[in-house]
Amino acid sequence: MQNDLTKRLGIEFPIFAFTHCRDVVAAVSNAGGLGVLGAVGYTPEQLAVELDWIDAHVGDHPYGVDIVIPMKYEGMGELDAEKLEDDLRDMIPQGHRDFVHELLDSHGVPSLPEDQKAPELIGWTEATAGPQIEIALTHPKVKLIANALGTPPAEIVAEIQSTGRLVGALCGAAKQALSHKEAGLDFVIAQGTEGGGHTGDVGSVVLWPEVIDAVAPLPVLAAGGIGTGRQMAAAMAMGAAGVWTGSLWLTVEEAETPPAQQAELLAATSRDTVRSRSWTGKPCRMLRSDWTEAWEAPDNPKPLGMPLQFMVTGEAVARTAKYADQSKGVMFNPVGQIVGRMNRIRKSRDVILEMVEEYVDAVERLGRGLSGDA
Ligand SMILES: Cc1cc2nc3c(=O)[nH]c(=O)nc-3n(C[C@H](O)[C@H](O)[C@H](O)COP(=O)(O)O)c2cc1C
Repeated sequence: MQNDLTKRLGIEFPIFAFTHCRDVVAAVSNAGGLGVLGAVGYTPEQLAVELDWIDAHVGDHPYGVDIVIPMKYEGMGELDAEKLEDDLRDMIPQGHRDFVHELLDSHGVPSLPEDQKAPELIGWTEATAGPQIEIALTHPKVKLIANALGTPPAEIVAEIQSTGRLVGALCGAAKQALSHKEAGLDFVIAQGTEGGGHTGDVGSVVLWPEVIDAVAPLPVLAAGGIGTGRQMAAAMAMGAAGVWTGSLWLTVEEAETPPAQQAELLAATSRDTVRSRSWTGKPCRMLRSDWTEAWEAPDNPKPLGMPLQFMVTGEAVARTAKYADQSKGVMFNPVGQIVGRMNRIRKSRDVILEMVEEYVDAVERLGRGLSGDA
């Protein structure tokens, strides 16, 4: 299962695991894959604490950090970085804030204590992601940095590469992948619409070979809908250099997903997700809920652009996560269509090993077919 990318990273299996949970990052890297910590929700100070913890629990294994610098966001290039948060706040209609409060109140979600209100503007902009990268670069076991929602700015690409680390980015279309290649990125992650979180509208089976052919010989990691070794084998058969997974890690034993949220995930079928702009302002795949339906209703407010929408909804994320037992129908629950196969809680290590085993079986089965021994 070794290829150029696994050798450059020093990992055993080309399995990449995006997660917001440090325990999962460490467990995946210790099992021979590469755990990647999603940094978007962390302040630089919190991120430093998380990365120090991972360093202490990952032995000599490498891991990655994921940041979010969108190509386009509200006020981009127009607003003064010093006053960014205040100026963005002025762009939010009060009706949107009232709507969120009414929605949560009507579902009986308790309010957050005053001292637990989260910062409104999290790492969705270059200004907020920059300090996160600085922190990541002070941690030597961080060998890879990935960016969501666009090609990272040239100076950031150069800074990361000058330290010997690899930098890549997600894409949902061949055009975006070509822009990543032109910017000199080391790899591309092609995420089909099935995937959890921000996602485009082209399915994986169509998207992966399109991107692989467009950027060859740049390595492409296949993402979107991968939960088993057979799906991994399909991606590798199309020429992917590895698989990038996200949803799967929400229901592992090490995940900090609140039990009420985990229960919804375990019960959901592959038809229970929807692409909705209702939490972040950009299309994001998540479980369909009263919340997503409410933002679709014709008379209700329409989602704002990024990062404004999350400035409205961020408090609701914190509030429903804290009171998950009382937040049925209004929780932020991003996940992909593979949720239909996420029916039991497993250890991260077992997820990796079962995927590898099934991958090997699938490849052997195809090999037997070719030699006529099937
Ligand atoms: C809960 C959740 C949050 C996500 N947040 C991010 C993020 O902050 N940055 C990012 O690059 N990708 C994010 N993603 C997308 C993953 O990196 C990955 O591309 C995707 O989950 C792959 O598809 P899958 O869910 O079918 O495995 C998220 C996915 C999930 C499920």
